[in-house]
Amino acid sequence: MTTMFVPRNIIVTGGCGFIGSNFVHYVVDHHPDVHVTVLDALTYAGNINNIKGLPEDRVEFVHGNVCDAALLDQIVPGHDAIVHYAAESHNDNSIADPEPFVRTNVVGTYRLLEAARKYDIRYHHISTDEVYGDLALDDPARFTEDSPYRPSSPYSSTKAASDLLVRAWYRTFGLRVTLSNCSNNYGPYQHVEKFIPRQITNILEGIRPKLYGDGRNVRDWIHTEDHSSAVWTILTKGRMGQTYLIGADGERDNITVLQDILRVMGKPEDAFDHVKDRPGHDRRYAIDSTKLRTELGWRPEHTDFEEGLRQTIAWYENHREWWEPAKAATEARYKRQGQ
Ligand code: NAD
Ligand code: DAU
Repeated sequence: MTTMFVPRNIIVTGGCGFIGSNFVHYVVDHHPDVHVTVLDALTYAGNINNIKGLPEDRVEFVHGNVCDAALLDQIVPGHDAIVHYAAESHNDNSIADPEPFVRTNVVGTYRLLEAARKYDIRYHHISTDEVYGDLALDDPARFTEDSPYRPSSPYSSTKAASDLLVRAWYRTFGLRVTLSNCSNNYGPYQHVEKFIPRQITNILEGIRPKLYGDGRNVRDWIHTEDHSSAVWTILTKGRMGQTYLIGADGERDNITVLQDILRVMGKPEDAFDHVKDRPGHDRRYAIDSTKLRTELGWRPEHTDFEEGLRQTIAWYENHREWWEPAKAATEARYKRQGQ
């Protein structure tokens, strides 16, 4: 039997990043009794404008680092839950320089778990399907909550480490935790370093899109709003100590996604370049979200990928001021890497 948890005053770490800020908007729009404290270090990936305009009596911003135990002592008391999104999130960056990933993803999670334990509050951990490694293209299998941990990259190994810390804090200290491992998100506010926004903004800038390797790698796409509704469901209805996989049956290979983008943007489907592959590039991710759907009754709403993509393209066309400041430096970094 599941007992409903009724949050009133939550901390959202990484609430100025892509998925965290979409979650803050989701809570403001759907749960009028909930106050959100956003804790974010505003790294290159964080943007205060992502939460601009939200009502000040509902959303408070604290500029700080999740590794800062003294700051956590100041802000955690009085809250009833931490939803932990903050992370170094980009695989390519973790290959170029793993250290910030170890610090933020592993040490940062440890500090938050300790703060949650000290002040006895509920903790929800945001993680990724990448902790399970990859699947072969011709394998009918999908990841489940019982899949073995087999991370490939510095990024995914630090996320795996953080998941294991959370499980240990549940088992050893009885902390009230849940975990969710989600597949690839798309939607508004995603940094231009990531696949879909990079290709959309390349086309808008007159740069040819860049496909790694043969482009046959498969990702299981989910709209970020569906990720938010799933996290809210798990936060409020999930069983303690449990992991829930989040996915929306959105498997597509990269070349198909890129051709979709080119078509919607009125370009020839072959107007892109193949570039150097990512070292250790995971071949395929696929999520079986049966547990979340049957046990907690969650369903995705954005099931038409082409429509979601069209809306996302329109968002980038209409928000040039949001992404333009980061574009040149991002492309310069990729150029140095041969990508
Ligand atoms: P993002 O890179 O867009 O945002 C990360 C946010 O965390 C930024 O606002 C950044 O300023 C903040 N941050 C980074 N280090 C911090 C620190 N030490 N202290 C405080 N704030 C810090 O990331 P995202 O793509 O929105 O991912 C959010 C979470 O979701 C991550 O935990 C990621 O592993 C997970 N996830 C992402 C995806 C995806 O498709 N992007 C899929 C599944 C899970
Ligand atoms: O699966 C969930 C994960 O999805 C999250 O945990 C990560 O935080 C998130 O970044 C994402 O990881 P990926 O490595 O799958 O996402 P990325 O957008 O970097 O790349 C998606 C696919 O596109 C991948 O197969 C690599 C490829 N790619 C990427 C870029 C940036 C290209 O072909 N060209 C590119 O320019």
